[in-house]
Amino acid sequence: GKSGYDHYMRKEINEQPRAIRNCLRGRLSEIDRAVSIDEIDDLERPERVQLISCGTSYHASLYAARLFRDRGIPASAFHASEYDADAIPIDDETLVIAVTQSGETADTLGALRDANRWGAETLAVTNVVGSSVSREADHAMYIRAGPEISVAATKTFASQQAALAMLSSALTGECSRGFVEDLRALPDQIQSILDRSRAEEVARDYIDSDAYFFIGRGYGAPVALEGALKMKEITYKHAEGFPAGELKHGPLALVSERTPVFAIISGASNQEKMIGNVEEVASRKAPVIAVTDSPAAVEHHVDDLLRIPETRPQLLPILANVQLQLVSYWVANQLGRSIDKPRNLAKSVTVE
Ligand code: M6R
Repeated sequence: GKSGYDHYMRKEINEQPRAIRNCLRGRLSEIDRAVSIDEIDDLERPERVQLISCGTSYHASLYAARLFRDRGIPASAFHASEYDADAIPIDDETLVIAVTQSGETADTLGALRDANRWGAETLAVTNVVGSSVSREADHAMYIRAGPEISVAATKTFASQQAALAMLSSALTGECSRGFVEDLRALPDQIQSILDRSRAEEVARDYIDSDAYFFIGRGYGAPVALEGALKMKEITYKHAEGFPAGELKHGPLALVSERTPVFAIISGASNQEKMIGNVEEVASRKAPVIAVTDSPAAVEHHVDDLLRIPETRPQLLPILANVQLQLVSYWVANQLGRSIDKPRNLAKSVTVE
């Protein structure tokens, strides 16, 4: 059941510290600063990585592709439904990773079958043991988020990111003590966001808006897309996410005093450029809400702050996303939406 919560979504947002703890359990070693993932210890460092997925899982894949590239492995994320049209040639040195919470998404399964047929090595990163994707891939890694009932993916997105962060370390052998420590800090950091978030007030202040925009750069860009997806999915309001640099190439025309902009700002990466983008939208009178681990540097540029604990840019999206989930949840709640079962959507999309 919902254990006293009004909605499964709220319960699942609040379960994130435990979900991440489960995901990390037994996979991190502080002594030799290594990540080891038992179920895939026979996987070797690939020449290149392709990730295939849909929706929220695609946003986790965009995040992972960036991590792999940072660690020297060429990697790209594909919408599973476009994979047969887009895929660059692959061979047995290519690792194709199907990222899917349910393990049953038809488009992802179809793309996985293509990758298998084309001779790639394949890996499922999934929440469901024994799911179709886990059975058809050469290898499977489990994110261990526990069952997710709400149609909106929340804790599974957090666990996908944590799992993929560990996977990129395990496959490249690149892992500092700091990275292991920062991964371990995530559950408590998420708890502190859940305990103190001002998202409910922020949602109330901007409930009467025409649209919601989400911007970020680098590791903040995929989570901006995810913030917008969650908002439209459960509130039915117009929402869009962009890499912040794209704003002035079109979307800026939509920005007004009736379009709040959520800006994901890391204190350690791209801060100056993000502040520049904040100024661009603020000069069009858009209210700006910063989701940031460096409030002191940004507070005089923005209208509102949603704080997150300080962390490295690679892990910031996992924390920033919790605030964005809560904002969408409270907007939907205040609008009286059917939060756990949004209209027209299904938890598991088993048709192409
Ligand atoms: O089960 P999957 O991760 O393969 O599902 C993919 C998408 O259908 C899913 O992430 C969808 O976008 C979410 N419900 C959004 O919250």
